[in-house]
Amino acid sequence: MASVSLTVNGEAVSAEVEDRTLLVQLLRDHLRLTGTHVGCDTSQCGACVVHMDGRSVKSCTVLAAQASGADVTTIEGIADGDTLHPMQQAFMDNHGLQCGFCTPGMVMSAIDLLKRHPGADEATIRRELEGNLCRCTGYHNIVKAIRQVATAG
Ligand code: FES
Ligand code: FES
Repeated sequence: MASVSLTVNGEAVSAEVEDRTLLVQLLRDHLRLTGTHVGCDTSQCGACVVHMDGRSVKSCTVLAAQASGADVTTIEGIADGDTLHPMQQAFMDNHGLQCGFCTPGMVMSAIDLLKRHPGADEATIRRELEGNLCRCTGYHNIVKAIRQVATAG
């Protein structure tokens, strides 16, 4: 067993987990933060993306124990009360989701990609989203949503 202590969405949390426990399992099963999804077992889909110390990571590829001491943000932690994060609002404005399964990971990846590529053009957005799969939208409106934030202000 491993004892992990970390910050999740601004709150200090601790848990006793098996050594093999993944960060996504800690979030979903122990902390009941089920907005972070599991869509594959091959590290391909990106439905599990969260931010760890300010960088996007696939939480299915990180052991909970590796996240000890880290500052983790999940999709539940980005809105400001009832006010959606601008990226969430842009997905809504541009119909960037259908079933919504991929959406938490898409939004978290999109926020990180614009941090690294402010004002990103369409080609950059499409390249950066290679690690996030969507089976519904054809990506077009997702890219539009991210462009909306990229070109705002
Ligand atoms: S669950 Fe598919 S990449 Fe993590
Ligand atoms: S909206 Fe359904 S998988 Fe992307």
